Amino acid sequence: MAKLGGKVMVTGGAGYIGSHAVLALLDAGYEVVVVDNLVTGFDWAVDPRATLVEANVADDERVRATIRDHGVAAIVHFAGSVVVPESVTDPLKYYRNNTAATRSLIESAVSEGVRHFIFSSTAATYGTPAKVPVQEGDPTVPINPYGMSKLMSEAMLRDVAAAHPMNFAALRYFNVAGADPKGRSGQSTVGATHLIKIAVEAATGKRDSVAIFGTDFDTADGTGVRDYIHVSDLAAAHVAALAVLVARPADSHILNAGYGRGFSVNQVLDAVDRVTNQTIERRYAGRRAGDPAELIADNSAILATLDWRPERDRLDTIVEDALAWERKLGEMGR
Ligand code: UFG
Repeated sequence: MAKLGGKVMVTGGAGYIGSHAVLALLDAGYEVVVVDNLVTGFDWAVDPRATLVEANVADDERVRATIRDHGVAAIVHFAGSVVVPESVTDPLKYYRNNTAATRSLIESAVSEGVRHFIFSSTAATYGTPAKVPVQEGDPTVPINPYGMSKLMSEAMLRDVAAAHPMNFAALRYFNVAGADPKGRSGQSTVGATHLIKIAVEAATGKRDSVAIFGTDFDTADGTGVRDYIHVSDLAAAHVAALAVLVARPADSHILNAGYGRGFSVNQVLDAVDRVTNQTIERRYAGRRAGDPAELIADNSAILATLDWRPERDRLDTIVEDALAWERKLGEMGR
């Protein structure tokens, strides 16, 4: 591994995916400073081996001081707003918290001489893909402000990397689920909307049933198909991306982060029933606005570019880990 020569700043490191990336970076031997405003994240989710700076990423003064004080050599940027329907009703919040805040952070990085930047992007940049599996070079036509706010950030990174001594990796996440297999973190979001989180909430008695949004899609069983990726594999992909950015400073990368296979809503709920040995009540509801039938990553680019291989890609493993964390949250009274 090429030497980084400084700490890694993780923005949004108190959130769901960010907290797992912090664990993966620390486990790989990096020193980590987290910048998080704790609006949706939790201080207890930050591993104590990392330093937590409670600040907004758009707070230039605090961010620049943190970069200097900690000798930050790379930034992994997770902080942002992530609720797709909310982005439709409050687009300016998304262009502020995602696009504008990312612009500030990139400017801080450039002015302080940070050489490497890893960005949380999303499959939502593709909108409704014309074909699946979707490839990185396929058209990016977001169908909601969330996806657009992330695509605009990708564009800024591309232009900045061409003009300044900084390279970047943007990982386009597919459907992230599961929890740290050692039980150190998991999805703790209150009022989550994601299918596997909702299903394990139902399995642990926090909900009566799970609504299935649409049974008339053009898929094998009529329900939506997604490429579910385990959060720990995704976290590991960030560590692998950092190694590549350091080793090849002239190259930047936009990479799908998925497994290249899909499961339907019914298949996910079958897995939850199997793992829990119980039957969750399924309610059949209408389609949710803006849901594509099928979203599956072509992951050949990430497999070819990074020293990364999926390790927890069985659907039942993802569900087991999500369930274990949901039970732990219950024990913690959350
Ligand atoms: N679903 C249900 N019932 C639920 C929740 C979800 O049937 O209660 C279905 C959805 O209709 C969809 C699938 O389960 O078919 C997955 O839905 P999620 O809400 O878990 O995830 P999305 O695919 O909608 O969202 C993901 C990411 C977003 C990203 C979006 C588009 O979480 O960040 O993909 O790329 F914007």
